[in-house]
Amino acid sequence: MDMCVTCGSQEGLCKVFEMIVNPGDNILLARKYDFLIIEDDPYYFMQFNKKFLTYRRVAGCLCQPWAPTFLSMDVDGRVIRADSFSKVLSSGLRIGFITGPKPLIERIVLHTEVSTMHNSTFTQLLVSQLLHQWGEEGFLAHVERVTDFYRKQRDALLAAADKWLSGLAEWHVPTAGMFLWVKIKGLHDVRTLIEEKAFKKEIFMLPGYNFYLDSSAPCPYFRASFSLASPEQMDMAFQGLAQFIKESL
Ligand SMILES: Cc1ncc(COP(=O)(O)O)c(C=O)c1O
Repeated sequence: MDMCVTCGSQEGLCKVFEMIVNPGDNILLARKYDFLIIEDDPYYFMQFNKKFLTYRRVAGCLCQPWAPTFLSMDVDGRVIRADSFSKVLSSGLRIGFITGPKPLIERIVLHTEVSTMHNSTFTQLLVSQLLHQWGEEGFLAHVERVTDFYRKQRDALLAAADKWLSGLAEWHVPTAGMFLWVKIKGLHDVRTLIEEKAFKKEIFMLPGYNFYLDSSAPCPYFRASFSLASPEQMDMAFQGLAQFIKESL
């Protein structure tokens, strides 16, 4: 049995499948070709385009507004799902959780016992107490506040991108998470631009080659985070970047 690791989004996994086989129902493909899916999805709760605004109960059941997970489609125990509290509580807590078929989870527990042993008991207790105190509704209300914050941040970065990078670069509007992927037009590789020119001016972006298997390959993409910067900093960063792009063309 082979493994396929997603890069945090269903879109990412779909791309992988497009490259390997014809597009189709991924779960069916996993069954047909007998592979496991590891659904690495720490941004799950930070989805911006939900079906309805908050979760609601229908006949006592929780209807979730988020996109369905691979785990929810799994019928024969081949999906291991990794969630994290890093994005919705605090990354410093180093707490996440996995869900999946019991025999596989038991193996992961064994590996954990002979490697890291376990997460800090203090932070586990902290998260456990917080979740118990909040309850489901409290947690989801918190998630809503976090999503609202990141939606505003995303919109501010998109406004800066529209203002300064139109015509020089292209991007898709992120539907979740805290990153905007940008492809610079007319440049084969953005390594020098991002790592030297922009860096010297304190404009920090992540060049896309970091995500390639072959990190020496040229890459026209970079990743901009909208987690911490203020709208003014975003504006200044993209203004500076636009200048460097024009100089490099
Ligand atoms: C796709 C993806 N998976 C996993 C992680 C790691 O999350 P954690 O802080 O729980 O280790 C990140 C982010 O930092 C991520 O982007």
